[in-house]
Amino acid sequence: MTDQPLDPRSLRDAFGAFATGVTVVTTIRPDGKPLGFTANSFTSVSLDPPLLLVCLAKTSRNFAVMTEAKGFAVNILSDSQKDVSNTFARPVEDRFATVNWEAGPYGSPVFADVSAWFDCSLENVVEAGDHVILLGRVQAFEKSELNGLGYVRGGYFTPALNAKAVSAASEGALHLSAVVERDGEVLLVGHGKSLPGCRAVSGDPLQDLKTHLEELTGLSITLGFLYSVYEDKTDGTQHIVYRAFAGEGEVKCGHFTPPSALAKQSGAGSSGSPTADILNRFATESALGNFSIYVGSETAGRVHAISQKV
Ligand SMILES: Cc1cc2nc3c(=O)[nH]c(=O)nc-3n(C[C@H](O)[C@H](O)[C@H](O)COP(=O)(O)O)c2cc1C
Repeated sequence: MTDQPLDPRSLRDAFGAFATGVTVVTTIRPDGKPLGFTANSFTSVSLDPPLLLVCLAKTSRNFAVMTEAKGFAVNILSDSQKDVSNTFARPVEDRFATVNWEAGPYGSPVFADVSAWFDCSLENVVEAGDHVILLGRVQAFEKSELNGLGYVRGGYFTPALNAKAVSAASEGALHLSAVVERDGEVLLVGHGKSLPGCRAVSGDPLQDLKTHLEELTGLSITLGFLYSVYEDKTDGTQHIVYRAFAGEGEVKCGHFTPPSALAKQSGAGSSGSPTADILNRFATESALGNFSIYVGSETAGRVHAISQKV
């Protein structure tokens, strides 16, 4: 083996090909003031004990405080928080002036409107070249139904953008539906046989679907990643299915059904119908925590895996 000198700029670009979420890591300084920086090096490490990590550059102005703190919080930014990410990555005088935050149960600042936050004790600081690894033990956490903000190759991305691109590319009559989840269960309508959905009526099919779902269910709905795209060859209709997440409250129409019972739903469960296949696939994937996108016709197509770290 030879130790070829590597071009750091090029290596950095190569590392940047790995799509991540975006977090803001926070703590409280000895003088009581909050401190935080944007980090996409977050990784979940262990469930038992509950551990996570982030990497901190040794050049950070906050290096000494972060590595000597009793703990830190990791705020997973949601898709509307691009500005928060930018603020906490720049030399802004008071980074916290622009966010809604409070002290978490273990003391570090946790933000409003994030996808999730973890308030941790500092378990260990591991030497790692020009960075250190901050290993945190989760003392408290909270999650919301908001989609995360994505980051790849130096740019942000959101599920909504991805979905818009797909819907714009479709031709002919367009039918939209959703696998609407809440607490791990899926909403079925039409006597438990169908996924809720509607025809696209405006130039903004995603908004049509969201409005339809909110009117139908009486719940707040967040649209997630694209789940399935297929063409019904019998009538030429393009079907686009998204994942969606429902808020709390009593559902006006339909029932939330556990994935284990989806395959048994009469009608929807008999394999062959597109809805049955989607539900069967969803039941399998939610057990694995590994979702995928289906592209094809109602009878033949390909499933593209999206690995999802749990
Ligand atoms: C999307 C994104 C991800 C980043 N990830 C990290 C990271 O994982 N670790 C790190 O030390 N800096 C990371 N940075 C850079 C820091 O946010 C930035 O250098 C820091 O806020 C500088 O301020 P400070 O010296 O006050 O810490 C990231 C920046 C951006 C925009």
